[in-house]
Amino acid sequence: MPTNYGAGMVAAPVVPLDEDSYWADPYPILAELRDRHRSAVEPDGSKVLLRWADAEETKKRAEFVNEGLEYIERRGFRPGDPLYEWRRYSVGARNGEDHRRLRSLVNRALTPRSVDRVREVVYGHVRDLLERHRDAGEFDVRQEIRTVPFLSIVAFLEIEPSEAVAIGQQMAGGAGEAFGPNVTQEIRDRANGVFAALMEFVGELVEARRSRPRDDLLTRLIEAEEDGHRLSHDELIVLFTNIFGGAIETTASLMTSTFLELAAHPDQLALLRADPDGLKRGTIEEVLRYRPGFTSTGNVAVADTRIAGLDIAEGEKISIIIGGPNRDPARYADPDRFDVTRDPTRWSFSFSMGPHFCLGQALARAELQETAAAIARHAHDLELTATPQWLPRVMVNNVDQCPIRYRFEP
Ligand code: HEM
Repeated sequence: MPTNYGAGMVAAPVVPLDEDSYWADPYPILAELRDRHRSAVEPDGSKVLLRWADAEETKKRAEFVNEGLEYIERRGFRPGDPLYEWRRYSVGARNGEDHRRLRSLVNRALTPRSVDRVREVVYGHVRDLLERHRDAGEFDVRQEIRTVPFLSIVAFLEIEPSEAVAIGQQMAGGAGEAFGPNVTQEIRDRANGVFAALMEFVGELVEARRSRPRDDLLTRLIEAEEDGHRLSHDELIVLFTNIFGGAIETTASLMTSTFLELAAHPDQLALLRADPDGLKRGTIEEVLRYRPGFTSTGNVAVADTRIAGLDIAEGEKISIIIGGPNRDPARYADPDRFDVTRDPTRWSFSFSMGPHFCLGQALARAELQETAAAIARHAHDLELTATPQWLPRVMVNNVDQCPIRYRFEP
């Protein structure tokens, strides 16, 4: 495998993904690697890009595509496993024409204008959560926030809450660890159980809409399937789970970070409170930049090529650790400062870029902006009552706890 790290040159610097201390605060380590060495390797030797310009170029170049099934084969999943079969049809694992076809079927449902109607729902749920705990004036955001993106996507997709109760409980069992490093048999079993339940749930929903069509996204997807060649049955089930399932864990992570960073930076919360309509967007872009929900994106080369001064062989995997570009001083002045007044049009890498740019980003942004607005309006004197610790070896960043204290303002 060609590499510029060989031939008597210095050994490649390693991102210490197997050390808990890295996960507790990866940014100083990523900064050193990015600014001094430009790129690095994972403990397994695979290459990692860390600079904004290199990350952007990777996502723009046709020689790099998303990893397909090998991504989960490396994590021990095999054909026939529910998670493997889900990934086979998943939009994130497809490339080229199939990928464009799948995205085009759902794109229109997820534009900034089509997602606007979720704003009121989210704002209401966050306000209710704050009001419910008003007497104690305390609760753990990490424990309680997940219901907000869950109920919001249920409302957005026009699923009856009664139809979704059971799957909501099963999904809380958690499948996220299956996409991180260090996947054990126990994690595989749990994830397979969650994905089997999720696909069964969507299968039942499809049959219900087939017999009683509605004016909703799922009914439109069923029409595309019945059309014959636009969407297969397996693609239909998985595409809908991509939207339904993709909307919960990442958004919950960012909602927690919104509470966390606003509680940790009262001066920034004061700015937001003084001008919520003007600053809720900037606040959320900054939370996304500062605390990316996804830790990394995986790419694979489809031809021998060079990037970031590295030789890459056809079939070689190369990842981007999002904390690198998001805090690259070449793109952001004083990148370790949390500053809600930065230019909100200067998007970070948190939703990735290129053909696989997050399909739900407009929805996630709308949900997060309303979360920030509800905090500013209803949670006064907001503070953390303990220091949250970032969990190690995850794919979706998360803290162990996020206990807050506040005074509810109606
Ligand atoms: C703050 C919350 C979110 C974050 C940080 C996030 C992040 C990402 C990232 C980084 C990717 C690219 C992954 C890659 O190519 O390696 C992605 C893709 C995707 N996201 Fe999101 N996402 C969020 C919310 C959502 C929501 C709400 C939905 C559904 C409505 C969603 C659906 C998807 C789908 C379907 C893809 C695959 C797109 C493709 O491969 O073409 N995401 N997301």
